[in-house]
Amino acid sequence: MLVAPSLLSADLGHLDRDIRRMESAGADWMHIDVMDGQFVPNISFGLPIVKASRASTKATLDVHLMMVQPERYIDEFAQMGADVLTIHYEASLHLHRSLSAIRSAGMKAGVALNPHTPASLLEDVLDCIDLVCVMSVNPGFGGQTFIPSALNKVKALLNMRQNGGHSFLIEVDGGVRPEHGAVLRSSGVDVAVAGHALFSATDPSAVVSALKGTRGNS
Ligand code: DX5
Ligand code: ZN
Repeated sequence: MLVAPSLLSADLGHLDRDIRRMESAGADWMHIDVMDGQFVPNISFGLPIVKASRASTKATLDVHLMMVQPERYIDEFAQMGADVLTIHYEASLHLHRSLSAIRSAGMKAGVALNPHTPASLLEDVLDCIDLVCVMSVNPGFGGQTFIPSALNKVKALLNMRQNGGHSFLIEVDGGVRPEHGAVLRSSGVDVAVAGHALFSATDPSAVVSALKGTRGNS
């Protein structure tokens, strides 16, 4: 299972330092939460932070757009260096078109599902999806509590992936703590996002190890 620290919980005054800290802790991807104050009741950051992160790391930049009409900014996020661009099902009127545009811009196409949105709604666009982000909190803030029903959605997605011969990755985002490592791995999760748990830890490598089920490097 890959681990993706959410930079929402990083110290933006020391972004470069915090990214390096996560890399040396054994993290794989960097997860960047863009919030517009409309789709979610919070504003985080946007294109410049993706650009600054790109300058700091070669790691996959996993950009999670919590914004209305995300299709307006696909090319800009590609230019800033995003590798995976995830848009919300609930914010996309023409999901098929937007996913195709993300791929055409050279990125992997992700779809995020709010806790109330069933996986089955993706059935007809699975061929266009490289990653499904299962929200395990209501999006908008870091440090919330994990919603266990997210694991049922992971199960449904695994079945859909297997039955249809698809290869999209399954990501879980929100409220992930070290103690969730075992259940996430046994559920078949490919990418675990963690913000608060990693950035508030005195030893983030221990958190990465707990999530991955390895002994760690500290
Ligand atoms: C929630 C964001 C998550 C969040 C994860 O809206 O999409 O990526 O920052 O942070 P924690 O792990 O603190 O819930
Ligand atoms: Zn996120």
